Amino acid sequence: MFTADRVQITVVMENQIDMLLPDLDPDAGALHCVTRNGLVEHFDPKHTIPVAENGISLLVEAWRGKRSSRVLFDVGITGSAMAHNLAALRIDPATIDHIVISHGHPDHYGGIHGVLELTENRRTPVATHPDAFLPRYAVMPDGRTSPFYNRDFTADSLDVRGGAPVLTREPLDLGWGLRTTGEIPREVDFEGPRPPAEPIGAPGLYQVDDDGAFGLDEVWDEQGLVIDVAGEGLVVLTGCAHAGVINTCRRAVDLAGGDRRVRAVMGGFHLGFPTTPQENVAKTVDAFSEMGADMVMPMHCSGLRAHAAMQAGLPEAYVQPAVGSVITIG
Ligand SMILES: [Fe+2]
Repeated sequence: MFTADRVQITVVMENQIDMLLPDLDPDAGALHCVTRNGLVEHFDPKHTIPVAENGISLLVEAWRGKRSSRVLFDVGITGSAMAHNLAALRIDPATIDHIVISHGHPDHYGGIHGVLELTENRRTPVATHPDAFLPRYAVMPDGRTSPFYNRDFTADSLDVRGGAPVLTREPLDLGWGLRTTGEIPREVDFEGPRPPAEPIGAPGLYQVDDDGAFGLDEVWDEQGLVIDVAGEGLVVLTGCAHAGVINTCRRAVDLAGGDRRVRAVMGGFHLGFPTTPQENVAKTVDAFSEMGADMVMPMHCSGLRAHAAMQAGLPEAYVQPAVGSVITIG
């Protein structure tokens, strides 16, 4: 498989925005290369100010020489906020080669209809796992429920808006070192969904499976995106990491033949849930440390505890996320 010479990742949507974050410039001694949507962009009336919402969307551009492949990984939770941010960040949706939806939860696919409507007459491939369309239910500890909350995410709903659904459980090669992970094996003992203590009806996420059975939603559809950058290593992106962020990194290494290192990992690390044991945060920090990733950017559903632990435990690798940031590797 070809590698990329360089990858550029733009944070189109994320839970946080902060105009006071400085650029990180390796020529000025910084360990990372990150440009920010900073104070000038927020104060100067020539600019439109991007917004944050409870979702994630990353525009990934992998370069090899003069050629590149542009992939939009997840599309936030609302089409209106995505349309606003794409305009504010001066990204033309018609230039996107491929959209990948990490899994069928609304904070990852919610903006898809709005984004597809902006791609005008182009038919944009939208890749996701076939289980992403299975009916999903949520039961909260206080008794509230969200019945069949993903009913607006269907192959037909993509098709009528100009999306071309690409449904696969396997990794998908998207060019110049970019590929999806496909379904992620769950090997790490502290990661992946836990069955609820009580049987069906207890608080938790549920799904109707292919055979029509109602059961625990183990989010088998969750996939990551990996970019193999020559001379650098693997850049691993996670949507919500229901499969586990360390499992996702292991899958990325396996797919690349087992001898590439993880250079950077960013995305939702799924550590922000009130029910996630604090020790999982510490175990994840230890695993990142063992892996030797140079850059770690917890985003979206990672939670404040993970930010604090990673900033303290991985001070050189930790980079704070914000909408509008552009990360360059290679
Ligand atoms: Fe999420």
